[in-house]
Amino acid sequence: MSFLTTLKNDTKVAHVRVEKVMVKEIKSISCLEHYARLLERLFLFYNPLECKVHQSLDQSILPDIDKRKHTKWILEDLDVLGYTINTSNKCKTQHITSISYAVGVLYVMEGSTMGGQIISKMVKKQLNTNISTHYFDSYSDKTMEMWLSFKNSITQNETQLDHEEVFKGANETFSALKEWLELTSILENISEL
Ligand code: HEM
Repeated sequence: MSFLTTLKNDTKVAHVRVEKVMVKEIKSISCLEHYARLLERLFLFYNPLECKVHQSLDQSILPDIDKRKHTKWILEDLDVLGYTINTSNKCKTQHITSISYAVGVLYVMEGSTMGGQIISKMVKKQLNTNISTHYFDSYSDKTMEMWLSFKNSITQNETQLDHEEVFKGANETFSALKEWLELTSILENISEL
């Protein structure tokens, strides 16, 4: 079995868990402000992690690494909504312990662009409006192309990677996102009381 197929299989359970949480989140969105707060929660999770990943990986692993930054699009979507992020809420993201671990984290971030296309449609349907979903629809019609080129770069470098560390980085990212969404959902509900 190829490395990427093993990675997909090894993270399947974690993917399904986070997918369920995301679907629940989207289905509970009741207004634009609520959508903005979900984007804010995602920004607070992903932004510090994205910074760390991009400090750990360079073009020798992924020639187009500079194109793979997504959190600026969250800010763009929030700008359209006239919403300013409250940066006093901090998410303690995991440590990036090696290049292989960083690849695992990036695998989750890049793979999320596929679910993102579905999420983008769900959000528009839920709010019944054609709102800006640049973050979820990050690569738009280039999504599959970007995903295939990501996978190609990983395959070319797979002999240099510690596979167990990649699996760990990916699984811990899925779990950390799920936990962050669940925790902040509780806080959201408390603040609405
Ligand atoms: C509503 C939520 C989501 C749905 C419906 C969804 C759906 C999908 C679909 C249809 C694929 C493509 C599967 C394939 O072509 O084989 C995919 C792949 C993937 N998704 Fe999701 N997804 C969701 C959320 C997420 C989230 C939040 C993340 C990350 C945090 C994520 C990470 C991934 C990864 C890493 C892959 C690549 C799997 C692989 O081929 O190795 N997904 N997802």
